[in-house]
Amino acid sequence: MKTVITYGTFDLLHQGHINLLKRAKELGDYLIVGVTSDNYDRERGKLNVRNNVMERIESVKNTGLADKIIIEDYIGQKIDDIQKYNVDVFAIGSDWKDKFDYLKEFCDVQYLTRTEGISSTILREQSSNNVRIGIVGCGRIASRFFSETEVLNGLNIIGVYDINEEASKELTKGHPNICVHNNLEGLIQSVDAIYIATPHLTHESIINAALNNNVHVLCETPLVLNRETAIDLYNKAHKKRLVLMEANKTAYCLAFNHLIVMIKSGIIGEVVDVEASLSKLWIEKKSLREFDPLQAGGSMYELGSYPLLPIVKLLGTEFESVSFYSRIKDDVDLYTKGILRYKHATASFKVGLGIKTEGNLVISGTKGYAYVPSPWWKTDYFELRYEDQNQNKKFFYKWDGAGLRYEIQEFISCILNKRMSSCKFSPSDSIFMATIMEDFTKRVNFYTL
Ligand code: CTP
Repeated sequence: MKTVITYGTFDLLHQGHINLLKRAKELGDYLIVGVTSDNYDRERGKLNVRNNVMERIESVKNTGLADKIIIEDYIGQKIDDIQKYNVDVFAIGSDWKDKFDYLKEFCDVQYLTRTEGISSTILREQSSNNVRIGIVGCGRIASRFFSETEVLNGLNIIGVYDINEEASKELTKGHPNICVHNNLEGLIQSVDAIYIATPHLTHESIINAALNNNVHVLCETPLVLNRETAIDLYNKAHKKRLVLMEANKTAYCLAFNHLIVMIKSGIIGEVVDVEASLSKLWIEKKSLREFDPLQAGGSMYELGSYPLLPIVKLLGTEFESVSFYSRIKDDVDLYTKGILRYKHATASFKVGLGIKTEGNLVISGTKGYAYVPSPWWKTDYFELRYEDQNQNKKFFYKWDGAGLRYEIQEFISCILNKRMSSCKFSPSDSIFMATIMEDFTKRVNFYTL
């Protein structure tokens, strides 16, 4: 029996894929098709894939051409598979010409003529259901959002609004197709979704305006600073079948998610303590909004949602008490340390705009601990450490660009697939953050330094 193997993403299965599978099948008696896993695609920067791995496997199966379907999950797997399945021929489209010559050591390698004029990329780009996005607030973060969308598809930025029209014009320079609106309503009425990158205290009214107009919302973190408001907004979005998502870039990135699922599966035993810190010494930029008490300036509101993220992901929302220790100057906290008590665990965080500290994340468990060095909020590396150091393991990933592409991609994917929320940062995670922010505002168990 002659065994042939081929690989691909097979997103939005099209005639080019079917032709390729037919040609591959004709080369032997038994065809194995490797379909890339979602994580593997994301790891190699293929963020736009529309169908998830189960859907893609299903489409390949429905062609009736594959005798066996496997999942491709890591670089180098092709060599392992060829040896494991005694493969005679490796077949792939001619767009890969020469790229797989290294497999000739293991089997025959055939580059098959690619079908002209069709590809998943073309189909995704031509897709008429691209999400039309508007940006509200055209400052520093919005410019990063803007450049990050260049590597994604499924969305078009079609309008912007800022109370300062100059900022809108600056952001959209060189993009004549993007409409600069001079009022929020105008923008909201022209789009399917908005990204909010305005000062914290403006979020609530902008989110309400968008939801009232049936527009999906991705809102910079912290969403709001009050528990009831957060609950009301999520209820409203839910009733209207709209996606309301808090943009916390760490929450959506691959490495952080991998860390969380590994720890949840017990790799360091039961989690007993989470410690996370983040500081940015911005005191010399004192004129910034971040130091303005009237615009909810200060370390806690500005940075708190980042260290609260691993805490809520690992210990949940049901904490028993929280206390805060802050250094306050001119009515804003330059530094805050928070301690949360859970029934069987504790957590602490440190945030500073005027005090510098080591910004790492340490998760302590009954069998070992996870160590994520600064800047852990852009997670690209972590270690699992044990009493027996021979068991220690290091994990490396890639953090691409400004890292916002992952949250944007998740937002778009939720809208296109009609998923109302993301498990990576759920409404209850977001409500937890608002609860802690509110406790801070109300000075619950609050001590000044
Ligand atoms: N293929 C083909 N003809 C096409 C498109 C793809 O023969 N018009 C082949 C590829 O060469 C590969 C297999 O189909 O052997 C799976 O390719 P995949 O990368 O999943 O498909 P693309 O349409 O090329 O996807 P993308 O645009 O995302 O790269």
